[in-house]
Amino acid sequence: MIIYKSEKEIELMKKSSQIVARILSELRELVKPGIETRELDFYAEKRTIELGARPAFKGYNGYPASLCVSVNEEIVHGIPSDRKLKEGDIVSLDFGVIYDGYYGDAAITVPVGQVSDLARKLIAVAESSFYRGMEQMKEGNRLSDISAAVQAEVERAGFSVIRAFVGHGIGQKLHEEPQVPNFGLPGHGPKLRRGLVLAIEPMIAAGKWEVEILDDGWTAVTKDRSLAAHFEHTVALTGEGPVILSVDNQPTGIPESGGPANA
Ligand code: MF3
Ligand code: CO
Repeated sequence: MIIYKSEKEIELMKKSSQIVARILSELRELVKPGIETRELDFYAEKRTIELGARPAFKGYNGYPASLCVSVNEEIVHGIPSDRKLKEGDIVSLDFGVIYDGYYGDAAITVPVGQVSDLARKLIAVAESSFYRGMEQMKEGNRLSDISAAVQAEVERAGFSVIRAFVGHGIGQKLHEEPQVPNFGLPGHGPKLRRGLVLAIEPMIAAGKWEVEILDDGWTAVTKDRSLAAHFEHTVALTGEGPVILSVDNQPTGIPESGGPANA
């Protein structure tokens, strides 16, 4: 059952989603060669508490950290560790909080210093495919119109869409119905209507879409070890069309990155 949100609930979800966006844009600035991935996790957790929220992922199905940090061929659910990022890596940061009873969830993929043209293109396509999907999130369309638009954008670029993980409804739970695959034929699934709130999250690979889970039981990598990228926002369908809730439009005293977290 899909839980549609009132305007008031969407305002509340804007709060939690803004906290996520703000912390992600701060994390983007911290990504440098030499930083340990666990330092990013500690920072995210500290800022979450400072801003009056709670991390959404810690303890979720036993996940051990507040932030997911996935490097290069890691797609999602990378566990922060003493691994140091190095020049040329790309790193996906996936983060969620709960604030006032509502969840927010977003992800970005960030280059570490100078990266290859392929890596840059992959990051850009993860992001643009999100926007192509979001554009289909309008009243009267069907759910799989979003999925098909994401897939078309990714495959047009010669990349592939990860099948094993999907976007999701979000609200008083981190994962609500419906699931939002990043692939499929258009014209299927429930009709979209006002009050729907989705975490739309393309996960894409430079190579093939098959995945493998590492021995830690969490980290998902591309089976062919090709580079992967992830981009996610929490989006509400309103009377004015789709609105991204996970944007940071509060003053922070920290320079705006202008990057995808604030797009
Ligand atoms: N953004 C991911 C998702 O929507 C995060 C879940 S990670 C977990 O599924 F650790 F909480 F499982
Ligand atoms: Co999500």
